[in-house]
Amino acid sequence: MKLLVVLSLVAVACNASIVRQQRRFPDDFLFGTATASYQIEGAWDEDGKGENIWDYMVHNTPEVIRDLSNGDIAADSYHNYKRDVEMMRELGLDAYRFSLSWARILPTGMANEVNPAGIAFYNNYIDEMLKYNITPLITLYHWDLPQKLQELGGFANPLISDWFEDYARVVFENFGDRVKMFITFNEPREICFEGYGSATKAPILNATAMGAYLCAKNLVTAHAKAYYLYDREFRPVQGGQCGITISVNWFGPATPTPEDEMAAELRRQGEWGIYAHPIFSAEGGFPKELSDKIAEKSAQQGYPWSRLPEFTEEEKAFVRGTSDLIGVNHYTAFLVSATERKGPYPVPSLLDDVDTGSWADDSWLKSASAWLTLAPNSIHTALTHLNNLYNKPVFYITENGWSTDESRENSLIDDDRIQYYRASMESLLNCLDDGINLKGYMAWSLMDNFEWMEGYIERFGLYEVDFSDPARTRTPRKAAFVYKHIIKHRVVDYEYEPETMVMTIDEGH
Ligand SMILES: *[C@@H]1O[C@H](CO)[C@@H](O)[C@H](O)[C@H]1NC(C)=O
Repeated sequence: MKLLVVLSLVAVACNASIVRQQRRFPDDFLFGTATASYQIEGAWDEDGKGENIWDYMVHNTPEVIRDLSNGDIAADSYHNYKRDVEMMRELGLDAYRFSLSWARILPTGMANEVNPAGIAFYNNYIDEMLKYNITPLITLYHWDLPQKLQELGGFANPLISDWFEDYARVVFENFGDRVKMFITFNEPREICFEGYGSATKAPILNATAMGAYLCAKNLVTAHAKAYYLYDREFRPVQGGQCGITISVNWFGPATPTPEDEMAAELRRQGEWGIYAHPIFSAEGGFPKELSDKIAEKSAQQGYPWSRLPEFTEEEKAFVRGTSDLIGVNHYTAFLVSATERKGPYPVPSLLDDVDTGSWADDSWLKSASAWLTLAPNSIHTALTHLNNLYNKPVFYITENGWSTDESRENSLIDDDRIQYYRASMESLLNCLDDGINLKGYMAWSLMDNFEWMEGYIERFGLYEVDFSDPARTRTPRKAAFVYKHIIKHRVVDYEYEPETMVMTIDEGH
């Protein structure tokens, strides 16, 4: 009897490992890491760089950053970029996603003055990657608007779409011969809702009634203009792709009631549908239920028009279908309720318009960030939903990662991060098994960096950065070895443990 139990346990264990080993990532699946200019570069006023909205905010209202720090030096990648590429080689990355600082390239934001030192820096960075067969993916905008453009209204001014198109032209002209994937904007929700509709990202406008809505329309229009520019003038000779990255955390109903189902749908529309729908849906424009709700509330509040600026039919057609791929930044999931744990929210605001409560399940592993837990299989849930909604687009996961606290002891041993990444890998494999057209995955992040309002308290790096050391020394965490092993073998091996914490570059990298 006992023997039978043992034997059947062995059989179960073997089956599990066989099943796991059969689940392989294809050889052409693009594994990489991601970063953003303001979070890593430093050199905030060096070599002709102009001031951006983060420089302005951290210097004028330093108290908004939790540890009163800033990105003036950050990980100093401006001076350490060769070490960054060496880390990419150590990990065996296929690709690296990084963003350009608009004000480093165009100090005033406008294309009348191009900064040659800025162009040279990114050329050096790109060429260093290409030397080692690492595919560079460029994000044109990751939240660091030139301050001069903010003074003209930033994303609340419809002319932003022309300024962005001018900037995109400079980028395509200078880098498009070697870079074949461009992401126009990183996370419209964080740009528009957090920057304009609340006070949680620069420029902390807190224009709750309309800020996020004006920004949403102007931003997707700016994206479309850059897309057409690429498509018309650059794609024929450069042959690359142009898309956008949306932050899509999963929002599911807290209970299976029609009220909570509807609340979850409205919440998804308010979180990301408002930015994704105009570009990726067949009909274009803002999502219907949300538009109706905002129009209704606006009327109740005495506005002669909806606070959400609608698209004309012509504008809808202009923005619709303007992306070769959908970049998804996915981190976590929330349960949504029509009645529980709501507000108080400012009135009027997007939060009040959507009017839902949300939380993470207590059983989900917690990170150092209040908003980030390990929600089961949420990449697969989110991508399945998007795949059905937007008619099977090409997907890239352009960010996904886990935070640990800077004060943690044994900060290089990040078993929770490893657990998170392995769970993500299983969820990616579930997508591939279902035939979802998912082409790549960028872990956030290559190294610790300036985590916006959280300063240097929350750490997302596969490499730890010593911010007290002028050299900003980078040291691999345990998760770096695990990610490297996954990339190399294209499988998730739960038995794998690094033998030492010494990182080397494998042959051929
Ligand atoms: C943002 O505006 C709302 C509503 O006007 C207000 O309640 C809130 O305190 C403001 N937040 C900040 C950080 O200024």
